[in-house]
Amino acid sequence: MSTIAFDSDNKIVSLYGKKSSYNIKLYNTSLPLHLHWGAKTCLSVKKSFFPANDRGFMILAEARDNSYLVEEMQFEYGFAENGDFRVPAFRVRDGQNYPITGPFELTTYIYRGKNQIPGLPSARPENAQDLETLELRMHDSKSGLWITLSYSMFPKYDAVTRHVRFSNEGSRPVKIEKAASMSLDLYNWEYELLYLHGAWARERQLQRRPLQSGTTAFGSIRGTSSHQFNPSFALVSPQTTEFSGEAYGFSFVYSGNFLSELELNHDNNLRLNLGLHPDTFEWQLQPGDSFNTPEALMIYSDEGLNGMSHNFHGFIRNHIFPPPFQKAERPILFNNWEATYFDFDERGLVELSDIAADIGVELFVLDDGWFGERNTDRTSLGDWTVNTEKLPNGLKGLAEEIEKRELQFGLWLEPEMMSLNSKLALAHPEWYISIPNRPVAEGRNQLVLDLSRSDVREFLIETLDQILSSAPISCVKWDMNRYLTNVASSQLPASQQQELYHRYVLGLYHVLDEITAKYPKVLFEGCSGGGGRFDLGVLYYMPQYWTSDNTDAVSRIKIQYGTSLFYPPISMGAHVSAVPNHQVGRTTSLEFRGHTAMSGNFGYELDLRALSDTELRQITQQSSFYAQHRRLLQFGRFLRIKSPFESSEAVWMFIHSAASAEDSSDYFLLFWFRLHAEANLPSPRVKLAYLEENVLYEEKSSGLSYTGSELMHRGIILPQLEGDYVSQVYIFQKKGSENS
Ligand code: GLA
Repeated sequence: MSTIAFDSDNKIVSLYGKKSSYNIKLYNTSLPLHLHWGAKTCLSVKKSFFPANDRGFMILAEARDNSYLVEEMQFEYGFAENGDFRVPAFRVRDGQNYPITGPFELTTYIYRGKNQIPGLPSARPENAQDLETLELRMHDSKSGLWITLSYSMFPKYDAVTRHVRFSNEGSRPVKIEKAASMSLDLYNWEYELLYLHGAWARERQLQRRPLQSGTTAFGSIRGTSSHQFNPSFALVSPQTTEFSGEAYGFSFVYSGNFLSELELNHDNNLRLNLGLHPDTFEWQLQPGDSFNTPEALMIYSDEGLNGMSHNFHGFIRNHIFPPPFQKAERPILFNNWEATYFDFDERGLVELSDIAADIGVELFVLDDGWFGERNTDRTSLGDWTVNTEKLPNGLKGLAEEIEKRELQFGLWLEPEMMSLNSKLALAHPEWYISIPNRPVAEGRNQLVLDLSRSDVREFLIETLDQILSSAPISCVKWDMNRYLTNVASSQLPASQQQELYHRYVLGLYHVLDEITAKYPKVLFEGCSGGGGRFDLGVLYYMPQYWTSDNTDAVSRIKIQYGTSLFYPPISMGAHVSAVPNHQVGRTTSLEFRGHTAMSGNFGYELDLRALSDTELRQITQQSSFYAQHRRLLQFGRFLRIKSPFESSEAVWMFIHSAASAEDSSDYFLLFWFRLHAEANLPSPRVKLAYLEENVLYEEKSSGLSYTGSELMHRGIILPQLEGDYVSQVYIFQKKGSENS
């Protein structure tokens, strides 16, 4: 299949998706210019792609070439220091510390398939024959620097992946000061920015606002992609809704510091850069060496935000998740953290597992506190030996007991850390990130290991290997509970200290590469104080993520709704926990908590021993409902119908997309939630979507049937329920087919 076309007469390269195209003009054999990204476009105008006005006080492109003004052009990778005064995509200095500004010689190269980026996670093609990659190679003969822009189109999802490689073929080192993974110059058709901001226990709150003159920027300098700003965001037209209009989504396949910059200039041009955060990055590139940026992902849809999310969800499941988990159903999980915190022993855990097995749980995860002297969060990270006072028969003994109950066994680890109060810190004080002879800031009483060091990485790989081979462990919850501060490494030379943030992330990926290759069947669940590092870089290794430490169902409705804009429900760990809730003190019904949690990757996290028989019966029904509808809930199409950010209601549905034969099915689920009651409210009324117009659907609880067109165009009136925090799930069965 051909996804790239080259029009050699007009020097236009086009990447074609199902409904989109990305068109690039190769200008004067020196510069790739951006023509278009969006709805599939066939470019017939050959001469007037760009404005050619002679305007005052602007810099011309090249000496004696007055055919364009630099600031009016749309570049594929924005320059610094050449008369383009927008925020540049990159900044590189040569051996004399002079900025490299070109001119470049441009060559184009197209190959079948897509190469993985060395040392970094990047989208995996299902079948290399299905796509092609475009490389635009820009050569600066003065310094010997090559800058190669790579593009691959995944047509089914209208997804373009991009990254940049810098290669030094000169004789002197060059210094990379800034290296975005993608840059995009657009005419601003009044775009609005949609992004996810938050904090610990309040992750991924949705915000939408028009862009205004100047630069809008958000990112992270915390060492992780952070709770505060997620590295996924979108541009939409003011008219774009959940179901219609254009949406342009972006995401960064990376787990460390990042910067998204959107500059709207005086000509109403919008430059968008996404990449490593330049404030915390610099790279010395020696002769003969290459540097690869992480990958950026761009996804287009003309079917509104739900269309964009659908493309993201499918893309992430099929091209980001590790192959063994792309199609694999996920087990119903029990986690003991909110049930016991640090206060447990083998007997108590086995008691919990007895009940867990009875209520339909399939995977029992032992959380923090099983190792060293870990009875509080002030000690023992790094000392990964079993605490035999709590677990006299070791992990193996416990795991075998759990397995006897036909449950899989999972284990919490926080490999990237050490407690100051640990044997590891005594043995290796040089292993944590700190600035020599200066005090180090503490967060959660712990320090971050310097993963740029090979001895630290080897220690981690060996330790993880020992743990994973010591007992039947089928799941690891990989936690990371503090940001990076005082960032310096005793092993890096002075000129490379600014590389540490990125080298840390590369070190993490190295460890994950090794360990997931050795244990491909182990399910890794990511976590960072809840959802502090929820990004495509982590999901590449760990196909599910603990969405937030906030398990309150009301808060979770917003957190999961925001997260779903880019990330599929199967990636979002969501547990039913105790009431009053441990983070916000709120009491909600078991039913409401269940409906919220089963809209994500479902589990329980509460002391099952404290539940009444009635509650246990209710939970058993809940987990059996989830198991029965798991295929739909984990792999179906998730549609947001009504936003909790706009009203006191939330509505969403799960439906199998008709396009996928393997997942086609004859029913769908509709979830309705009301957060706060008011007097004299009208009955909830919603219009559904993506149904078959002429098919009859029977709503199982009432026995009433509706045509697809009726549900979509007239809408359905749902029964009003009384009280705060009420919810309902409805099963709609296609008439003539069976499902209970
Ligand atoms: C973090 C995680 C929690 C739990 C604790 C254990 O806060 O997000 O789920 O694992 O650590 O210390």
